[in-house]
Amino acid sequence: RGAARLVVAVDGPAAAGKGTLARRLAAALGLPYLDTGLLYRAVGRRVLDRGADPADAAAAAAAARALAPADLERGDLRGPEADRAASAVAAIPAVRAALLDWQRDFGRRHGAVLDGRDIGTVVFPEATVKLFVTASVAERAQRRWLELQGRGVAADPAAVEAELRERDARDAGRAVAPLRPAADARLLDTTALDAEAAFAMALALVRERLGER
Ligand code: DC
Repeated sequence: RGAARLVVAVDGPAAAGKGTLARRLAAALGLPYLDTGLLYRAVGRRVLDRGADPADAAAAAAAARALAPADLERGDLRGPEADRAASAVAAIPAVRAALLDWQRDFGRRHGAVLDGRDIGTVVFPEATVKLFVTASVAERAQRRWLELQGRGVAADPAAVEAELRERDARDAGRAVAPLRPAADARLLDTTALDAEAAFAMALALVRERLGER
């Protein structure tokens, strides 16, 4: 089948809509989907459970090496505390190294759509299709705030935007695998697009790329 071992990389900053988009692309293309942010969130959560600091390199690396599939099923991987812990452990090289094979094995098995920050640059530089999904920080803050509201989490809009800016700065400013578009990524700015329009655009970009092969 043509889609076998097709790898689609979807990268971008927090709350740009890549998760929804990547999940829908995977369904449309008949590929497995991996939310790689969930791996970092689960590692951060393990560190917090042990009462350690997510910025503690030794504690975070140990948590990453001990990560089990069941950790990804936990219900407490989203929310401000998990966001911060994920972003902190993600800056630690030993954590990224421990998660690299995990992600590559997943993608190589049957092909996949993976979303994250460094899929097109580090995890799958050879990915068939690379999308870099962005939106303005104000729009992303608004979406994140609505998402929190929807889950019944009270949040102050200004604080949500400040947290997002802080996380962007840490994800893009870290020394290992910083957030940046791969040279051959197609940029998709979803600021003025709803989820439906963003998905249609993404699917068109993927098909266009596959047609070029
Ligand atoms: O996509 P997300 O918001 O769930 O990601 C959580 C954190 O994990 C984010 O702050 C950056 C980090 N991350 C990363 O460094 N590399 C990835 N491939 C995915 C996420």
